[in-house]
Amino acid sequence: MLNLCSNNTPMKKIIVLVLPVLAGIVLNAKDLKLSENNIPETVKALTLEEKAMLVVGFKVEKVSGAAGATCPIPRLGIPSITLADGPAGLRINPTRDGDEQTYYCTGFPIGMMMASTWNRDVVGKVGQAMGNEVLEYGVDVLLAPGANIHRNSMCGRNFEYYSEDPLLAGRTAAAFISGVQSQGVGTCIKHFALNNQETNRLICNSIVSDRAMSEIYLRVFEIAVKESQPWTVMTSYNCINGIQAAENKWLISDKLRGDWGFEGCVMTDWGGGYRAEKIISSGNDMIQPGGQYWCDEIVRAVRDGRLDEKDLDACVGRVLELIVKTPTFKGYKYSDKPDLASHALVGREAAEEGTVLLKRTALPYAEGTGVALFGVGSYDFVAGGTGSGDVHRPYIIDLRDALSQGGFKLDGAVDEYYSEFMKLEAVRCRNIDTEAGLNLWFLEKERPLEALNRELVENAAKRAQTAVITLTRVSGESKDRLAATSFYLSSGEMDLIDCVAEAFHSEGKTVTVLLNVCGAVETASWKDKVDDILICYLPGQDGSRAVADILCGRVNPSGRLPLTLPIRWEDEPSSRNFPQILADKAANYSFYRNFYDGVVRNDVKNIDYTLYEEDIFVGYRYHSSVGQEVSYPFGYGLSYTDFEWSEPATRKVAGGWEVSVKVKNIGSREGKDVVEIYLAHPADEEYLPAEGRPALELKGYAKTGTLGCRETETVKIFIPEWICDAAQGGKLPKGYCFTALRSAGSHFSSKKICDSSNL
Ligand code: BGC
Repeated sequence: MLNLCSNNTPMKKIIVLVLPVLAGIVLNAKDLKLSENNIPETVKALTLEEKAMLVVGFKVEKVSGAAGATCPIPRLGIPSITLADGPAGLRINPTRDGDEQTYYCTGFPIGMMMASTWNRDVVGKVGQAMGNEVLEYGVDVLLAPGANIHRNSMCGRNFEYYSEDPLLAGRTAAAFISGVQSQGVGTCIKHFALNNQETNRLICNSIVSDRAMSEIYLRVFEIAVKESQPWTVMTSYNCINGIQAAENKWLISDKLRGDWGFEGCVMTDWGGGYRAEKIISSGNDMIQPGGQYWCDEIVRAVRDGRLDEKDLDACVGRVLELIVKTPTFKGYKYSDKPDLASHALVGREAAEEGTVLLKRTALPYAEGTGVALFGVGSYDFVAGGTGSGDVHRPYIIDLRDALSQGGFKLDGAVDEYYSEFMKLEAVRCRNIDTEAGLNLWFLEKERPLEALNRELVENAAKRAQTAVITLTRVSGESKDRLAATSFYLSSGEMDLIDCVAEAFHSEGKTVTVLLNVCGAVETASWKDKVDDILICYLPGQDGSRAVADILCGRVNPSGRLPLTLPIRWEDEPSSRNFPQILADKAANYSFYRNFYDGVVRNDVKNIDYTLYEEDIFVGYRYHSSVGQEVSYPFGYGLSYTDFEWSEPATRKVAGGWEVSVKVKNIGSREGKDVVEIYLAHPADEEYLPAEGRPALELKGYAKTGTLGCRETETVKIFIPEWICDAAQGGKLPKGYCFTALRSAGSHFSSKKICDSSNL
């Protein structure tokens, strides 16, 4: 996203840059043109300058709005390939100068919502649709998915990431990567690794134990790499135990390539890394967005002996291996006309599958129900987050429109009141600078404040049959959320809930709250006041249509939380070690201020360095181990129908265990259930953060297909030994057992499956 090229190099300038190099070459390989069979020869035929150019990004404006590109070397038939963001859809400019055509891309649900589907088929379909847009708009590599663990719910980019659990996140990432890559284009899993906060993200030092890295923070990448081989990986900006990620040989060469068998290419985040020789010798193949400085620096480093040319050759070889796979290299004639209409349906299906029913009393409503629609979010629905993870989508359907198109009758007076109010708020918001006078595109814009007119609410309660209140939260790259204002509800929001609940309940009517949010919000203090609660995250351009279908029962919700909703933000195990600085102070530690300059600072806690003191006890691993009550647990989600399970059976199979459960729909509507298998820790063992094991760890899961009434499906789940860290020599220690957690219907319960002594 950052453009570090001093000369915003268009194609002409590249030619100017390339030609002098060409002039000086002895053309010992005159006819050599790059092919997938001659990569070593091509590396040999390159000059030192050309090699440097290949591992450094160049700004080539082939696709307007793409984040980066590689440098072409025409004499050897090496084209420039194009890289573009990001997880919720392809991010390119929607319009181009002097061109009447538009280049919008589908705005899919955010990453967190993908994980909330617990459905790898649906995630794969989104990947295919997104990959098709990448292909048809002439891009080669999509800079997605984002896979960092939700260490703390206030991380500003959690919405792009999947989960607090490495298995769910890793499997979701793998399904997405396979889907995108099935279209013949590449992915870039990011940000590798431990990029769990945005405050001072360019230089903060994440201090973490080997165990937490291996079982939590690296495990997610390990699963994704082993299961799907992304074409590329993006290193993060932050330092890890004192070494910057892009300069981290242990991370890139030993772990990623050595231990996990990653076969692709590694690139920096935009502006990440500092010492060219360290970046290249660590195996970080490409420096993005690059620029002439980096080319010169690499050449200098080889000439003065700081960098071994063999290390540079290895990186160049991997960049060429990437290039030969791309549609650009293969001469694919892209159409610039992907089928946006059919992709919109794929996004809508994912939003249906990812929405979680948290509380159910009255839902679903009959078609034609009269709804009074409250909350500014109902009229200014949020489809996605901000920053490089945002998408230029063709439209966003507001909830108001989705409900009226979906057959609900909206209360006219409430609708009119909000329409007027939103006009005033739009003017107020436009006049507020986002941060310290800097109206930067990647910062979130001021949101409308909550409105409350008691008389209007009381009158509406007499007319409408029910009320829906939408609450919203947005976040994005470069800033973390502040718990005081982003986790906790504002007094305006609380007053709105109180007033609507009181008025509608006194008329014998119900209230539904819809959480249109980028992550966790406080629910414990008000959930008893309302009848139904849905969380639909930031569900993409058509997400409100999915919500309308769920409200009226055309769709039965089947999402499960990929995160914990704690009672208080302070209950999260990392909250003592997570930055919470006010906006005016944050300006000193923001995205655009401090680039890594080779110095690891240890001055200010949670800013210069962050201690991962909670170790592996992240999210539910902590809450379940210390018996701390939460508002809604990880894995939770209700349904409009009920399911019955057979006694689950477990057997030892090669390389792991297989758990099978027969699921039967015993309710009166068709629906889907999720089987979640956890490895449970013996209850009597003490909780020891330093060496203990968590009470619960997700080890496998599966979602059923749509089950009609009385229909059954036998779900079989393979649990590989290698992800069971407690296993020794292929066996679980005494007392450990697999436990199935079920959350459909109207309850959340567990079933102990087996004692490890039989296995
Ligand atoms: C972000 C990356 C993104 C890149 C290119 C960086 O600021 O951290 O996620 O891919 O910009 O836009």
